[in-house]
Amino acid sequence: MAMAQRSPAAGAGGQWEGEVAQPEDGGDRESLCETLRLLQIDVGWDSPQPCPAGSERWCSRNVLRKQRHWERIVMAKKKKRKQEKERRKAKPAEDKGATPHQSKRVLKATARERLLAAKEAAPRLCIDLSMSSRMTKKETSRLAAQIRRLYGSNKRAGKPFWICLTGFVIGSPIYQECVRMNDGFSGYLMDTTPESYLDLFPVERIVYLTPDSENALRDVDPHKVYVLGGLVDETIQKERSLQQAQGHALQTARLPIAEYMVRNANARNYHSETLAINQVCDALVTYCATRSWPEALKAAVPPGKGYVLREPAT
Ligand SMILES: C[S@@+](CC[C@H](N)C(=O)[O-])C[C@H]1O[C@@H](n2cnc3c(N)ncnc32)[C@H](O)[C@@H]1O
Repeated sequence: MAMAQRSPAAGAGGQWEGEVAQPEDGGDRESLCETLRLLQIDVGWDSPQPCPAGSERWCSRNVLRKQRHWERIVMAKKKKRKQEKERRKAKPAEDKGATPHQSKRVLKATARERLLAAKEAAPRLCIDLSMSSRMTKKETSRLAAQIRRLYGSNKRAGKPFWICLTGFVIGSPIYQECVRMNDGFSGYLMDTTPESYLDLFPVERIVYLTPDSENALRDVDPHKVYVLGGLVDETIQKERSLQQAQGHALQTARLPIAEYMVRNANARNYHSETLAINQVCDALVTYCATRSWPEALKAAVPPGKGYVLREPAT
């Protein structure tokens, strides 16, 4: 037996830890034997060893019976814990339509299906890259990154648009930046063409989205083709896309920022209704999912633009 140490709790005249009280009769001895076994304290009394203190009685049968009983309890508890763990794992999937724990492969397949369905029926979102050749290298890289973000958030949307990159010429600076910066770009599920949207769709279906339009966008019409100017202008070229659209007598619309948001006081006194193309796309997909412009603008307009949602009238 290990060296005994006085337990602080034992006090004067108390027992020593590790020291075993001598049992008075055989029954007590058996239960003590069992207790020690359950506590996994090896006292060297394993059956068929005789019980200690010189007793002639063997405790093996009772001990074995109790040991088996205890093992059954332990196994049952283990099984219950395992079942509980499996139930916990399965529960969120049942509760939330199997979304959170779906494997990447399943999520990818679902997104792919939604995009292919969008090709058949959803409204078109064109990015007009015909103006991109005049951008600086830095602006071109930023536009390529925005195209990646736009594609990503559209792909994740419950009701995605079908994306078309128009005026997208193989070998052009924006083409090269998209291929260089956007992993898997050649596999993106969208149309790319050097042609103009004007050659692809009837004029009456086209709505050019431009921050300088007089018309606030009220709704998203699945039969329309929405066009975004593929532009990053670090020094804002006012009305650039508006002039482009007016030159072709197209319908134009802006996001209804002025209708649902108000200017927020900020240190720079900066307020801009001009968003990046991926932010406009965020607004459109959120609107399609919620049919709420406040929700859509909250999701898309970053605080840095100097606008906050208008308080609802009481
Ligand atoms: C960075 S903006 C380019 C701004 C540029 N000065 C112009 O005249 O369009 C990129 C494109 O996003 C779209 N866009 C940005 N803000 C918008 C808004 N508030 N409403 C509608 N479209 C917007 C337009 O299609 C715009 O051409």
